[in-house]
Amino acid sequence: MHPKQRLENHYLEQRRVQFDFSHTPEHWIYDNPFATHLINAVHLILPVGELWMCRSFNEALPYVTDEKLRADVKGFVHQEAHHASAHKVAQDYLRHYGYEIDDFITSLDTISKQLNTAPLGLALPQNLAYRWLTIRVGIAAAVEHFTTMLGTWCLDDQPWQNKTADEMMSDLMTWHLAEEVEHRSVAFDLYMHLCGEKNKTFAYLQRQMIMLAVAPGFTFAIYQCFKKLAQQDAQAKRYQNYGLLRSLAQTAIENARSKQVPSFFSMIFSLRHWVKPNYHPFYEGDTFKALQVIDNSPAVKALTQLRVC
Ligand SMILES: [Fe+2]
Ligand SMILES: [Fe+2]
Repeated sequence: MHPKQRLENHYLEQRRVQFDFSHTPEHWIYDNPFATHLINAVHLILPVGELWMCRSFNEALPYVTDEKLRADVKGFVHQEAHHASAHKVAQDYLRHYGYEIDDFITSLDTISKQLNTAPLGLALPQNLAYRWLTIRVGIAAAVEHFTTMLGTWCLDDQPWQNKTADEMMSDLMTWHLAEEVEHRSVAFDLYMHLCGEKNKTFAYLQRQMIMLAVAPGFTFAIYQCFKKLAQQDAQAKRYQNYGLLRSLAQTAIENARSKQVPSFFSMIFSLRHWVKPNYHPFYEGDTFKALQVIDNSPAVKALTQLRVC
């Protein structure tokens, strides 16, 4: 754990915000099917991925000897579990507009189960099971690097504001990404704790290897989801036959044009931080800014009012 973060004395809380997408239009980023389908890709991936992280983190809890880290891990699990629930509601919005997404979600679920306690159903001896646990937490830390970058982009560039997008979906995405910035250090701190103080070099080398798999895997998964959604939308015809590279290039074009999506290249460029031996997510985002955005979320405000009543 970074000393500065310990000084922040910040404890994570689960905000059980609710969203209603019954009035959300199909293209919730108005007149922008490319941006809508690209951002909607997260509704397909995140519930499976976040619950997978929760299971791994719960499994890691008995090995955590630092009290603050234990509290952070519990707070992280509570936040991610509610993110998954919120995006499941957004999956119903996609089903409402006739998008077939269930086969894809089932395939992702099967993959996540194969990456669980025993990879591919193998029975591992205790020491290898522990090593596999550190790898799974390392995968979570690598994914959290990208969600932190997405969150920082969202807090800085403020996409989906000023009546350019549906307020309810914008609120879901902004609240979620702000909480990603808020809990950005937990997966990395847990990974380093599990690897142990004496194994910093090994932990560094292992996390580089993990990122070599996670960066292309995460990119390809988002692309597959985007393609799956775009192919079911007559208004997205232009993008239906885009290959991976063309789609990635389009993120940069769309980022420059409308700022409604992050540029893939800035995400990849952020890996220059990850490769530094002294990398720590604390430096990748601004907790104060994230908390300000969370406090201004209409869904969070509604929750606060409910508590007062
Ligand atoms: Fe999340
Ligand atoms: Fe997260």
